[in-house]
Amino acid sequence: MVFEDLRDYLNFLEKSRELIHVKEEVDPNLELTYILSEEERIGKKRAMVFDNVKGYNMPVAGNLFSTDKRIEYILGDTPYNIGLKLKNLVRIPDDTESMISRGLEMMKELSGIKPKVSQRKDSEFNIMDPDLSRYPITKNWPDDGGKYITMPLVITRDPDTGQRNVGTYRMQVYDNETTGMHWQIHKGGAEHFSGYKNENRKMDVAVAIGVDPLTFFSSIAPLPNGIDEFAFRGLLAKKHLELIKGETVNLEYPRNAEIVLEGYIDPSETRLEGPFGDHTGYYSLEEEFPVFHIKKVIQKKNPIYTTTIVGKLWNEDVRIGKAIERMFLPLVQIQIPEIVDMNIPEETVTTNMIVVSIKKRYPGQAKKVMFAIWGTGQMALTKIVVVVDDDIDVHDMKQVMWAMTTRIDPERDVMVIPGTATDTLDHPSQLLNYGSKMGIDATKKSKAENYNGKWPDTLKMNSDIEKKVDEIINNLDNK
Ligand SMILES: Cc1cc2nc3c(=O)[nH]c(=O)nc-3n(C[C@H](O)[C@H](O)[C@H](O)COP(=O)(O)O)c2cc1C
Repeated sequence: MVFEDLRDYLNFLEKSRELIHVKEEVDPNLELTYILSEEERIGKKRAMVFDNVKGYNMPVAGNLFSTDKRIEYILGDTPYNIGLKLKNLVRIPDDTESMISRGLEMMKELSGIKPKVSQRKDSEFNIMDPDLSRYPITKNWPDDGGKYITMPLVITRDPDTGQRNVGTYRMQVYDNETTGMHWQIHKGGAEHFSGYKNENRKMDVAVAIGVDPLTFFSSIAPLPNGIDEFAFRGLLAKKHLELIKGETVNLEYPRNAEIVLEGYIDPSETRLEGPFGDHTGYYSLEEEFPVFHIKKVIQKKNPIYTTTIVGKLWNEDVRIGKAIERMFLPLVQIQIPEIVDMNIPEETVTTNMIVVSIKKRYPGQAKKVMFAIWGTGQMALTKIVVVVDDDIDVHDMKQVMWAMTTRIDPERDVMVIPGTATDTLDHPSQLLNYGSKMGIDATKKSKAENYNGKWPDTLKMNSDIEKKVDEIINNLDNK
């Protein structure tokens, strides 16, 4: 089932008793998002629509991605199964397979990939002058630099190739017509921006708020730059995403968006952005970022605003991160086939650590895997990579810690790489976006890896004794 728009999804959640309406007056300044956060902390994780937001007559929806089940509704399958299907797409048919059936399979899979651009109907939308004071934009944490739009889809076009990028980057409200644009330097929007900067020309930008949940998920997905997130959404949905042409910008955006801000970024202008209570659990400090100027607003009648809060490990960004980990594992395995499983531990905040298990065949293979991870898409920003053997369950941190402490000699097995690209949010880095990485090879070592001796066997009971002991214990329980 593909949700047509945000309202379709909210109706579904309401019918499934996963959504509640908050009728009590709630302040968008600190209160609203903290309710969303506390709801997640206490484990109720209900999606919420705030109908009575202090000072506004526009509802706010939140906690739309807070559970694994909810993400499965949105994707129509488990993230891992989706990943397997994506992997199947790039499979080269073997001798036994008919090219016709493979071709038909591909046609079916790719049927929705191309977004469909259609005309806007005047009855659908209001076109307005910019005024951000109309919207219940939230302030999340006490020392945040102001109010932030936290769930925008930022749509840009590469000045040379014309390729589209869609990314979710927070936007700090400066006044009723301008915001910050917090695209981190490694992201698609920032890459396009550097092209406009080189040519010293203004960049059209469209920002869509309140789209259907699969389109939002696609904007977060770490796709290689050059792959259109709207096409990816069509691929996942097997249904074209409908786009409409911008009024004042040479860009298209989803017809199902509740609110669209059209405007531009002048490459010669930056402004301090932040502080912001971030995914890491710390405030990201003020840094210079580009400034977005709004020229027009296109919005549905009676729009619904969407928001999210990050900064505590129980919030929905963590669930989205897990879904991405599961979905992209099969694709990572195409490039790094020895990887058996991968865990981005929730506690380590997405880009700080990855644990992978490998089927190790040759000396130095764990380091080969580390370098491959540091050379792959957004995984390249991972600060610490831990490689274990495939007898370790990477999702059981007890087993991982056991391997990390009993299978390493630090001098030989811990590698520190200086002078690398780091995540913008990694505040301990030596400089913004620049620091070091650590690789821990926690696999068993061979002589060829400078291990002098026979690697000891791990403890395992004989299976006949295990069976007999099970019976004895069962009998004890039944007495
Ligand atoms: C709630 C939320 C907020 C985010 N905010 C930002 C942000 O401010 N800046 C940023 O660069 N990435 C942010 N991200 C991550 C990007 O959306 C993500 O890396 C995405 O893949 C970027 O797309 P791109 O590769 O097309 O640039 C955020 C993710 C989530 C879930």
